[in-house]
Order: sequence, then structure tokens, then C-alpha cells
Amino acid sequence: MEESILEIRNLKKHYPIRKGLFNKLVATKYVVDGVSFKINKGETLALVGESGCGKSVLLRLLVGLENLTEGEIIFAGKKLSEMTALERKLLQQKQQLIFQDSLGALHPRFIVQESLEEPLIINGMKDKNKRLQIIHETMNKVGLDPKYCTRYPHELSGGQRQRVNIARALVERPELILADEPISALDVSLQAQVLNLLMDLQEEYNLSMLFVAHDLAVVRQIANHIVIMYCGKILESASSAEIYENAKHPYTNVLLKSAPSIKKGISDEGFNLDLKVGDTPDPANPPTGCLFHTRCMEADEYCMREIPHNKEIAPGHFVCCHKI
Ligand SMILES: Nc1ncnc2c1ncn2[C@@H]1O[C@H](COP(=O)(O)OP(=O)(O)OP(=O)(O)O)[C@@H](O)[C@H]1O
Ligand SMILES: [Mg+2]
Repeated sequence: MEESILEIRNLKKHYPIRKGLFNKLVATKYVVDGVSFKINKGETLALVGESGCGKSVLLRLLVGLENLTEGEIIFAGKKLSEMTALERKLLQQKQQLIFQDSLGALHPRFIVQESLEEPLIINGMKDKNKRLQIIHETMNKVGLDPKYCTRYPHELSGGQRQRVNIARALVERPELILADEPISALDVSLQAQVLNLLMDLQEEYNLSMLFVAHDLAVVRQIANHIVIMYCGKILESASSAEIYENAKHPYTNVLLKSAPSIKKGISDEGFNLDLKVGDTPDPANPPTGCLFHTRCMEADEYCMREIPHNKEIAPGHFVCCHKI
């Protein structure tokens, strides 16, 4: 069996909504609601879903920036809940997050060198020359001239800034990269460059990656496995090839259709997304039955009432839909 680097089981994050003088609990926001998946060593899993479905919150749970409501995180076979303080500290070095907002992720008053040096200092690397050697080496790897070491974040272009963020994630030589929409703020030509860079680095360092995106076109090249998330839950998951050739969930098909570079010619016909007009559901007031029924063209009364469960329709291909 393949060795997993990260496994999550039934992960939940619920935020209480409190109001009034007595801070009374008035509702609960089900932002991440029972998510499970596994990433094998050296592989990339793409987590895809619309804005607000809980992708960034899930990553924050994984790096410990938020506490879990329920569930289990297992890193390289060891449960996070059973790790000692030292093991948790080491884990922080082994998995690194590339933040969604490349400007906000860097300290505005730190020059590039200071931003890259900080994690090394925190983790006890006392030898300044060694730190600088690692920084220059990593900058070269991500295609940034070390002369940018003295620049502030606002003096860099968006593409350069994202390279600094990638370099910052790499200086500690992690095993797993958690990349939160790392290219969505870049223009199209830069997107391809940064995507290629991530793929090269992945091969060179045998990295595993959790790649978050809101668009299926972007992850085609990079992902081995794809997980489709909607309002805190997983609706479909399968190998990349299976998703692109044999997607079953109506929502996955909507995502495939709305990614124009996958199905060419769609713009000539205009978009016909097979989707009822409506917004994504509010996680504080999720729909009954199937979460997608409010926008699904195939939904009937049964879908409104009954919660669907995951079905394995082919080895490793899971779908959560009454109609399948
Ligand atoms: N600290 C918090 N307290 C309460 N609700 C929160 C908190 N953080 C996030 N949320 C809510 O969780 C939901 C999911 O947010 P999240 O940032 O994970 O979305 P996302 O999938 O990353 O979206 P995008 O693609 O726009 O980045 C949103 O409804 C958001 O308002
Ligand atoms: Mg996000």
C-alpha cells in the first residue's frame, strides 16, 4: 500500500454565532463538516470549490492556526492528538503553508531576506552564513535573483512576491506544502510560470502537496487526486483522470463546464451551466437533505429531504449524490 503523508478523518470546524448581552448561542456555522481524505507521499491532492466553501479554514486547521471541533489529523502515520509538544514543533517545519494573499503573508517592514531568515532563526539556526547560503540557494531555486534580498514586499510585483512566499515555505525543506490558491491572484502568463515552478520543485524535493483552487482548469496539470468541496462537505473525490473523464456529481460537471480552458468552444455557445440561479448556501443555515439541491437541476423532493452518503462507484472514486 502507498505510504500517506497526511490523512484527515471526519474533520469538523463549527463556529458558534453568539448575540446579545448574555452572549447567547443563536446559531452555528458549519464551515468544515466531516471532511476526510488522504495524501500519499510525493503526490498532489487538489481541493477545489467555490469561494466560501471552507478551503482556507481547512488549511488553517491543518497547520494549527485554528482548533478542531472534531476529527483526527494524522501526519506520516502519527495522530496529531497523540504527539508531544516537541513532535508538534517538528511538524511545523515539515509542513508549510503558502498563504492565499501574497502581500498580506509578508511582513510589510521586513525586507525579503528578513522574511526568509525569520523561520530559520525561530527554529534555532544560529550560523548567519549558513542561513544566508540557504536563502540564496532557495531564491535561485524559485527563480528570484538574490539581489531582491533588500527589497520590501511593496517594491515587488505580484509574481515576485508569490515567489518569495514559495521560497519562505521552502527554506525549512518541508515534506508537505499546503498551497492556498497560490496562483489565483496572478495574471494568466504568470500563473503558468508559478504552476510550473511548483511542479519542478515538487519533483526536485519529492514534495507532497495540498493544492487549493476554485477552478478545475488550474489543477489539471498538477493534481494526482481531486476532491470537490461544497459548503464544508466533500461531494466527489477521485483520481485526476477520473474526474476529468468520468465526473459523476452534477456540481463537478458544473465546475468542469465553467472552466473554459478544459472544454474549448464553450464561450462560442455562451455559458449554459446547468445550474439553478442562486447563491452558495450560508454555512450558518445549510439546506436540508443534499447541500447542493438548491442549485441542482436534477434535484427532486427526495434530495431536499434526505442526506446523501458517499458511494464508491469505481475503485477510489467516491460520489455523494442520490442520483448516482
Ligand atoms: N473565524 C471565523 N469565524 C466565523 N466564520 C468564519 C471564520 N473564518 C471563516 N469563516 C467563514 O467560513 C466560511 C469559509 O471561509 P473560507 O475562508 O474557508 O472560504 P474559502 O473556501 O477559502 O473561500 P475563498 O475561495 O474565497 O478563499 C465563510 O463563510 C467565512 O465567513
Ligand atoms: Mg480561501
